[in-house]
Amino acid sequence: MAMERTIGQLDAESIWHPVKQHQSLKDSPLVPITRTEGSYIFDANGKKYLDAIAGIWCVNVGYGREELAQAGYDALKTLGYVSPYMASESGAKLGAKLLETAKMKGRVYFSCSGSEANEAAFKMAWQYHQQSGEHGGWNRKKIISRYRAYHGNTLAAVSATGQAERRIGYGLNAPGFLQVPPPYPYRRDQYHTPEEHGTAMAQWLDDMINYEGAQTVAAFIMEPIISGGGVLVPPDTYIPAIRKVCDKHGVLLIFDEVVSGFGRTGTFWGHQNWSAMPDIITCAKGLASGYQPIGATIASEKIFNAFLSDDPTDLKHFRHVNTYGAHPVATAVALRNIQIIEDEGLCERAAKMGNYVMEQLDELIEHPNVGEVRGKGLLIGIEMVERKDTKVGLGGDQMNTILGSMKEEGVIITKNGNTVPSLCNVLVISPPLTTTEAEMDHMCDALKRGILKV
Ligand SMILES: Cc1ncc(COP(=O)(O)O)c(C=O)c1O
Repeated sequence: MAMERTIGQLDAESIWHPVKQHQSLKDSPLVPITRTEGSYIFDANGKKYLDAIAGIWCVNVGYGREELAQAGYDALKTLGYVSPYMASESGAKLGAKLLETAKMKGRVYFSCSGSEANEAAFKMAWQYHQQSGEHGGWNRKKIISRYRAYHGNTLAAVSATGQAERRIGYGLNAPGFLQVPPPYPYRRDQYHTPEEHGTAMAQWLDDMINYEGAQTVAAFIMEPIISGGGVLVPPDTYIPAIRKVCDKHGVLLIFDEVVSGFGRTGTFWGHQNWSAMPDIITCAKGLASGYQPIGATIASEKIFNAFLSDDPTDLKHFRHVNTYGAHPVATAVALRNIQIIEDEGLCERAAKMGNYVMEQLDELIEHPNVGEVRGKGLLIGIEMVERKDTKVGLGGDQMNTILGSMKEEGVIITKNGNTVPSLCNVLVISPPLTTTEAEMDHMCDALKRGILKV
């Protein structure tokens, strides 16, 4: 009699998982996840894990929220689908809410993911320059981004991604996508303070724009805090200086808030930790706390106005569409999700709990393999090194020992895997913003024990 295959075997034989070597799944298939609740996920063997990475940095309000289930159910019952060419109540209200939180006037374009939000931003930037007639117009096609940053998997978004391991083997960068280094206070040269280092790295962008010719550059895209690339928090001088550089050269500033938005860093938007207004914000993940696939590109009025025309035949409008953009179920869930973030004060909570976790982790710096503990709000990284004096990054096996040990204890965190060679050495913590103090204690204790195994 043929044995019935387990779900794990069926998965191993039929699903191609992202960023995973499948050879190991032959003998040890994945154990399916069957339930989620609060800060926890449960597998089919009944094992409970504290999900201290919130899915992929997205479940900001925690799992199992009845309010979101109800919002989705109500929307599905009344509006199974609405074309993005048409209007819906939740879409309009969500657009207005996003503009309000960003303190921006302008318009919001909806898509289904962070990658698509960035693709839309690049096309908006190109078309804006072409149509605004300012600062060089037609020639402004280059997009500058930063090494170490992640901006998505689609071909333009991955070209803006400054992580070699995400690109090796897929051909060269799309033309016109260039990178500058980000500030990296831990590895800065010894002659500069962190603040001077921040200013110097903004100057690097200024230089690159000059060398390339400002009239060829459309936009600069940056995560306020590089997240998946290793939690790189800029010195306070950096972002205001970047705004000035972009203004000086007529280059648009795009903040990729896919991870850092929706309270993650202790303010609603990550860039609000500093004083600089963006031209475009892109977001996804925490927008619906991962309960629905939705992304958004928020453009300032200056940009939007360049798309207006009295002649409907002149192709000045944004010629870009996502079938599921502004999907009424996704917008309804996202709107309710933002209400939860506001009602429960989750931005303030992230700031407070972030400080709490940093205090718990303070002692880690004494460990010979811990180079730096850094972060903002509940976006925290621990840079692991072989030795403090050389700062050589800790190897993959040892990083996996820590992650494996924590998983055995029922705690999931991650590392900045598959980013840049020899620097996939940052442990990353990004739990739901609702995670309790007791759960944070459990996470920190498991982390300390894991690090002791190195
Ligand atoms: C900063 C940042 N931008 C963009 C993306 C791409 O988002 P998505 O996976 O929804 O396409 C991600 C995904 O991790 C991200 O971290």
